[in-house]
Amino acid sequence: MKEHFEALDAKTAKALLGGGTERIAAQHKKGKLTARERVDLLLDEGSFQEIGQLVTHRSDNFGLADQVFLGDGVVTGFGRIDGRLVYVFSQDFTVLGGSLAEAHAAKICRIMDLAMQNGAPLIGLNDSGGARIQEGVVSLAGYADIFYRNVRASGVVPQISAILGPCAGGAVYSPALTDFVLMTQGTSYMFVTGPNVVKTVTHEEVTSEDLGGASTHASKSGVAHFTAPNELDTIRQVRQLVAYIPSNCEEEAPALPYTPSDELRPALDSIMPENPNQPYDIRDVLNAVIDPESSMEVHADHARNMVIGFARVAGRTVGCVANQPAHLAGVLDIDASVKAARFVRFCDAFNIPLLVFVDVPGFLPGTDQEWRGIITHGAKLLYAFSEATVPRITVITRKAYGGAYDVMNSKHIGADMNFAWPCAEIAVMGAKGAAEIIFKGEIGKAKDPGSKLQEKEAEYKAQFANPYEAASRGFVDAVIRPSETRQRIIAALEMLRNKVEKLPKKKHGNIPL
Ligand code: HXC
Repeated sequence: MKEHFEALDAKTAKALLGGGTERIAAQHKKGKLTARERVDLLLDEGSFQEIGQLVTHRSDNFGLADQVFLGDGVVTGFGRIDGRLVYVFSQDFTVLGGSLAEAHAAKICRIMDLAMQNGAPLIGLNDSGGARIQEGVVSLAGYADIFYRNVRASGVVPQISAILGPCAGGAVYSPALTDFVLMTQGTSYMFVTGPNVVKTVTHEEVTSEDLGGASTHASKSGVAHFTAPNELDTIRQVRQLVAYIPSNCEEEAPALPYTPSDELRPALDSIMPENPNQPYDIRDVLNAVIDPESSMEVHADHARNMVIGFARVAGRTVGCVANQPAHLAGVLDIDASVKAARFVRFCDAFNIPLLVFVDVPGFLPGTDQEWRGIITHGAKLLYAFSEATVPRITVITRKAYGGAYDVMNSKHIGADMNFAWPCAEIAVMGAKGAAEIIFKGEIGKAKDPGSKLQEKEAEYKAQFANPYEAASRGFVDAVIRPSETRQRIIAALEMLRNKVEKLPKKKHGNIPL
């Protein structure tokens, strides 16, 4: 038996070394960890169980027969995060640049199948030169096998992609199909075509970092939901994210212990500026309402006029969606609508109640928005809220104007409990614009059109720039003091704990993509 053990030990030792000590040193020199170091950081200590450590490629093309590495450039298996089962793959850049081909893809697919069958999150740690050039078309087939599973798993188990190195060409589409993408600043990049192709085709000179680095995707494109200055923090973010979400679509997110106490938040009564056109930071409101220090903002640097993220209320996960008056007055534009819509759909797919804060002057006007399709993109948010069956609570803190009022989780599109603060203004449009239209003739004929406009504006404001017209029709369930907000939300969430709502039978809807 001894020689068998020695043979096994030798193979294991070889597999653990990946592409060898030199390539590991080169990886470290770039400020990157190895695939195995990442897995160790991600999972609870000692919990990793590897699958397929001895898998090798089956190709002789272009010298590959002499380059056989145990594991074929990807470490796969399962383990625990805070005691909860997760499946993980971690691409090993030290083996043929982490490139993906037949065996490498098959290992990832196996992990994906297991994640689906057993209802646990799938976490991909990506660091790869893309399709393994020597293996040709089987690499493309391997990618497609993964894409297909990403789509089949969507809405069944949470899928998380950390990008920790290159991710280029068609390879970007697996992370793009997953629920959350995290990137490390300085060492990761994603693009469909790299700087050289860009230069040839469009004559633009751009660096990899500018084209597809973490900051670019976190702010401009919105491809990345989270970024961190180093891999350690990226991996910590993955662990933090997993703690907010359930393991699959049949379960609820794990709850933390909660001891009821005084839930009034008197500071909220003075948070609103006297002037309704004055900005304030909606995150101050959110932070007062949620459990202390319980938030994880998603897409913090993209479409900052909308704040989205996870938080806990009375120990339970909620998904927060809020207009941000401190950025572009909280207006709804294309990016904000798409950002919020995707988040709403994630929360709905995974049984996470939605908490919506509204202070929105309307949709952003202009040719740029219209020509780029704010009609279609704004409709995504309307669609996402309308089809959501999880508990949905809305608080209108100030403005709720026009179509944006309807879109932002209004009663009419299925919200369960709608509150408004006494300073709320729920109307078709701002008082000035409204007065200019409906009293156009009268103002035009007036001796002093300026003061006539002011008079009419005040008239309109008195009638509509308040929450009472909406409350009298039951469009809001209660007008509440800001200080009561947390208390009301806790009670509403508790009341809605067993909510069951079924959508009409259909194959699937047709969200305006
Ligand atoms: C095979 C690859 C590889 C690949 C890298 N390597 N990419 N081997 N197939 N795609 C190998 C290198 O030969 C090298 O081997 C080792 O990995 C490290 O690569 P370096 O170039 O030394 O590293 P670095 O300087 O950090 O550059 C990383 C890189 C570069 C930018 C990723 O390697 C690169 O441009 N690779 C090619 C990328 C590419 O064109 N991929 C195909 C894209 S098309 P040794 O033995 O020297 O250590 C695609 C289509 C997917 O992916 C379609 C899906 C539908």
